[in-house]
Amino acid sequence: RHIPVITIDGPTASGKGTLAAGVAARLGWHTLDSGSLYRVSALAARRAGVAPDDEAGLARVAAGLNLRFEGTSVFLDGADVTDVLREEAVGTMASQISVWPALRAALYELQCSFRRLPGLVADGRDMGTVIFPAAPLKIFLTASAAARAERRHRQLLERGISANLDSLRADLEARDERDRHRATAPLKPAEDALELDNSGMTVVESVELVLDWWLQRR
Ligand code: C5P
Repeated sequence: RHIPVITIDGPTASGKGTLAAGVAARLGWHTLDSGSLYRVSALAARRAGVAPDDEAGLARVAAGLNLRFEGTSVFLDGADVTDVLREEAVGTMASQISVWPALRAALYELQCSFRRLPGLVADGRDMGTVIFPAAPLKIFLTASAAARAERRHRQLLERGISANLDSLRADLEARDERDRHRATAPLKPAEDALELDNSGMTVVESVELVLDWWLQRR
């Protein structure tokens, strides 16, 4: 049977994960947070002492990851690393290592394996362009840099982590620059993606809009 996929790509802190979770909950579908796979690769590489510019070493680490997913939690070698993965330092290292084609190739099959019945909502940078190019609905999600920095800032404060708004914004803009301009699987809308700027929208409004689009596409 055909397994449908909705892809949501976009820059850092544009709300991809929240939107994907909301849409998946309403449809009763699975989710793939592909960024978490780059983050967990970064963490595993750091622990193994593999440098961010060692392409072959990184690919080996990614191919040998011992992962388990439980709901929204990620376990690496049996330990829950969900919170560690959200750290800015891990995100930055994920962005640095994600330029390497061999690493991206090593994560390809794992990402495809998330596509299970009754359907998948996949979020990241290249879900609609590289991993699920035949997806019937592709969203390119954007929000202003100011809105994204504020959201990230609020998320961190809620978790009791203090952060500087200006440096958060500079960091996410640097990460987006790198993601947009890399040679392999750069961040860009698929030809057939629908663009959604959610700067002034609530989560519920964006979820409803995507569900409407899905009903029209189906
Ligand atoms: O989305 P998130 O911030 O968790 O992703 C961390 C980094 O992983 C991104 O900055 C990006 O460089 C990389 N990434 C990627 N392709 C994806 C998802 C994430 O290159 N599909």
